[in-house]
Amino acid sequence: MYKTLASVLKEAEELDYTVGAFNAHNLEMVPSMIEAARDSGSPIIIQTSVSTARYVGMSNFVAVCKSMSDKEAVDVVLHLDHARDLTDIKDAIDAGYSSVMFDGSLLPFKENIAKTKRVIEYAHGHGVSVEAEIGTIGGTEEGFTVKEGQYTDPKDAIEFVKECDVDALAVGIGTHHGQFQSKTKLNFPLLEEIHADIDKPLVVHGGTGVNEDDYHRLTENGIRKFNVGTELLVAWTRTAQEYFGKTEVNNSLRNNIMPCNKAVHDIIAHKIDLFMNKKSPISAVTE
Ligand code: 13P
Repeated sequence: MYKTLASVLKEAEELDYTVGAFNAHNLEMVPSMIEAARDSGSPIIIQTSVSTARYVGMSNFVAVCKSMSDKEAVDVVLHLDHARDLTDIKDAIDAGYSSVMFDGSLLPFKENIAKTKRVIEYAHGHGVSVEAEIGTIGGTEEGFTVKEGQYTDPKDAIEFVKECDVDALAVGIGTHHGQFQSKTKLNFPLLEEIHADIDKPLVVHGGTGVNEDDYHRLTENGIRKFNVGTELLVAWTRTAQEYFGKTEVNNSLRNNIMPCNKAVHDIIAHKIDLFMNKKSPISAVTE
């Protein structure tokens, strides 16, 4: 089924696992992404940057996610990632996205609260979920570069969720967007403190740079949404370079693109197994 972020994160909380949120960089890769989730018995969050959403067309992403989640036995959320402009958020909601992120993390704290409230009012009024962010994630995302990520202050987190009824909160715990050549050191004591203080599903950004050995501990400490983007992009591009580089120019495009989509499928299947700690909703019901 086509779901909201709030509903899949509620189920993840009850069954104690993390839902993978994977950035689609084009429309081609989306069916393989959803099939990977279906085969693993997990919901999936397909997320798009504003630029990718504009490139493909928001309603085209909505159509594919809705039609696949209607036909296949899999729950799909379509989420707008890191939107800073209220017009982009309104357009995504009006086009049928089931979840949006308002990223006011670079704004003064009070302004972040005020704007997040406005987004919540519009989104919740349309049955759409909202993710917000406090603290910052290092690296570059959507043309915005943050040199040094800023840790989330637990006191800010308490005040923020008192003011804003968000469905998920992204926190700064030492991750960086786009880190694909090394792994990061996470600040687990800080995450534990935030998790103890607030009763909201937490989100990790910059998942490519997170060591897979840390996944379990993140789930244990309230991370319910885990974002992976760059790892999929790199795998798709490397596979494309290999296949396009060795085939004739009049070879069917399909033969070069299918292996790229398969590379993305296999990464997602592997991550989902780790996020679910081998406990899918299906296996939990039959246990
Ligand atoms: P990576 O591209 O570093 O995996 O981060 C993805 C992300 O957090 C998108 O918001």
